[in-house]
Amino acid sequence: MRERIHELFKEIRNFNASTPSEVEEFRLKYLSRKGILSELFSEFRNVPNEQKKEVGALLNEMKDKVLEKVESMRSILESADRSTEPVPDLTRPVDQIIPGSRHPLSIVRNDIISIFSKIGFSVAENREIEDDWHNFTALNFPEEHPARDMQDTFFINKDPDILLRTHTSSVQIRTMEKTKPPIRMIFPGRVFRNEVISARAHCIFHQVEGLYVDKNVSFADLKQTLLFFAREMFGEKTQIRLRPSYFPFTEPSGEMDVSCNICGGEGCNICKYTGWLEILGCGMVDPNVLENCGIDSEEYTGFAFGMGIERIALLKYQVRDLRLFFENDLRFLKQFTGAF
Ligand code: DAH
Repeated sequence: MRERIHELFKEIRNFNASTPSEVEEFRLKYLSRKGILSELFSEFRNVPNEQKKEVGALLNEMKDKVLEKVESMRSILESADRSTEPVPDLTRPVDQIIPGSRHPLSIVRNDIISIFSKIGFSVAENREIEDDWHNFTALNFPEEHPARDMQDTFFINKDPDILLRTHTSSVQIRTMEKTKPPIRMIFPGRVFRNEVISARAHCIFHQVEGLYVDKNVSFADLKQTLLFFAREMFGEKTQIRLRPSYFPFTEPSGEMDVSCNICGGEGCNICKYTGWLEILGCGMVDPNVLENCGIDSEEYTGFAFGMGIERIALLKYQVRDLRLFFENDLRFLKQFTGAF
């Protein structure tokens, strides 16, 4: 019997399989109920007593060897199986990922907000659908002022007048009605005017309004604030110029020009050879407006300003047609990738 066992050990050692079913066949040959090992174990009875210990140990070892062989043959065949799968080509270039980008108008609005927040202005927004009081009357617009005309304003309802706000100055009123000075805020938002759409005008556009109301606020404060803004926005060499103007809600009123950042003030077709670009309207808050909002105009003074985001973006990016901002043509928008 010992000889037979040694023969079988050799067979086990030399066994080789090329398919899983051959491995299974091998396993059954040795380990099934009618297999070699159970046959040997039943013959074990006839083994002389003095050999029992040795032969018993050999049989147990044989069982282990068979199990080991089955395991190792299985894993060899499995990995061979995997190696026939196609290997991915790691040198292939990846598909290009095109990152999105902010819209140029959002970039400029965020720039404006961050510049004013450096000098203590907080940000608020308010409604786009307004009543006559907040858009016109409280802002000191005379009854017959042409801005109230249907030609300029989109009315939603007449009597009472409900309209799409024509400027963000309405947010000055909403703020002063519920907040007591000191107020130092900017109000970005969309505004609407009944304009024919062209390279220079649109019926929907964006403004940022500024308002500063406190004791002893002066025109010098206004000028210094706007100079700071202009230099942060267009570069530190930028000059500003204030021209007298008229707005019903400010007195005195002005319009501010910045030195042309394209030609440096020498004159070019962007600044129409004047060296200056107009960017905003401003002035000292008219005492009537303060009083309309319940603020004592003897105690408080203030300044306000308002600018168009499209206009600043046109100048900053030298875009010649404002309609490009609204068409969402990817060839245009892609140029602002990375310009956060
Ligand atoms: N609301 C004006 C407009 O839409 C802009 C403006 C001018 C705002 C002067 C102001 C200001 O706050 O003081 O044309």
